[in-house]
Amino acid sequence: MSARKDLGRTPAVTTDTDTRVDTAALEVAALEIAALEIVDANLSLGDGDQTVTALNAVSLTVRPGEMVAVVGPSGSGKSSLLAVAGALTTPDSGTVRVGGHDLLAMKRAEAARFRRGHIGFVFQSGNLIPSLTAADQLRLVSHLGNTKGRKFRDPLELLEQVGLGHKADRRPDQLSGGERQRVGIARALVSTPSLLLVDEPTAALDRARSHEIVQLLAREARESKVGTVMVTHDYDVLDYCDRVVEMTDGRLTPR
Ligand SMILES: Nc1ncnc2c1ncn2[C@@H]1O[C@H](COP(=O)(O)OP(=O)(O)OP(=O)(O)O)[C@@H](O)[C@H]1O
Ligand SMILES: [Mg+2]
Repeated sequence: MSARKDLGRTPAVTTDTDTRVDTAALEVAALEIAALEIVDANLSLGDGDQTVTALNAVSLTVRPGEMVAVVGPSGSGKSSLLAVAGALTTPDSGTVRVGGHDLLAMKRAEAARFRRGHIGFVFQSGNLIPSLTAADQLRLVSHLGNTKGRKFRDPLELLEQVGLGHKADRRPDQLSGGERQRVGIARALVSTPSLLLVDEPTAALDRARSHEIVQLLAREARESKVGTVMVTHDYDVLDYCDRVVEMTDGRLTPR
């Protein structure tokens, strides 16, 4: 009886072990696909005598869960880098891949759809819609998105995670600057993006709030495996980032 019981168990144990091995292999494979891979991107802006080299042979790879800070003087090309990474601007040459998908091979409409599903943006001002409550800012994302095969995070749970569960019914003018910024971050995460692009999230905040916001971004990057690129002038918060790169006259160098 006991021998039969053991025999009966053996296959189950083997399957269990196999499943674990496969899962680990899949995780490794998933980690090898970069959240963002920019190779040798060049971008000129303006025309005629006014042409500016915004990006000069820029390459940058960001792994899932990695948070990279971009620093550099005003006008050096930091926002241009985010625009290219997020398929808002097409570079003159180079390659841009997000989660292994070649953005430059996509038609405009396809790129816009891909952006909505895979890339989150957080702007300095929060860019919230004045008439909507915090919860509705987030609900709008899943409402506008095509639900077919797409995963969305629960708005109230996300607001809870950024510490604003109790203010879900407030409109932007009833929130502080730091709170609006947190709503902006939560909204960027609704569509479970693989890449999060953040432009100067702490510019309008005091020191304590700045640390809070960047800590929140770093935690989200780690826990949700979102590759994050954050442009900042705030040298105080660089310690929360895995890596810092510097933009000077359109060129990107490690720092
Ligand atoms: N639409 C445009 N047409 C022409 N030139 C532009 C345009 N947008 C940006 N530029 C120029 O491209 C360069 C890079 O601009 P970008 O906005 O990327 O700089 P930045 O590093 O983000 O600066 P900041 O720290 O002030 O935000 C600048 O010289 C800027 O003047
Ligand atoms: Mg900028």
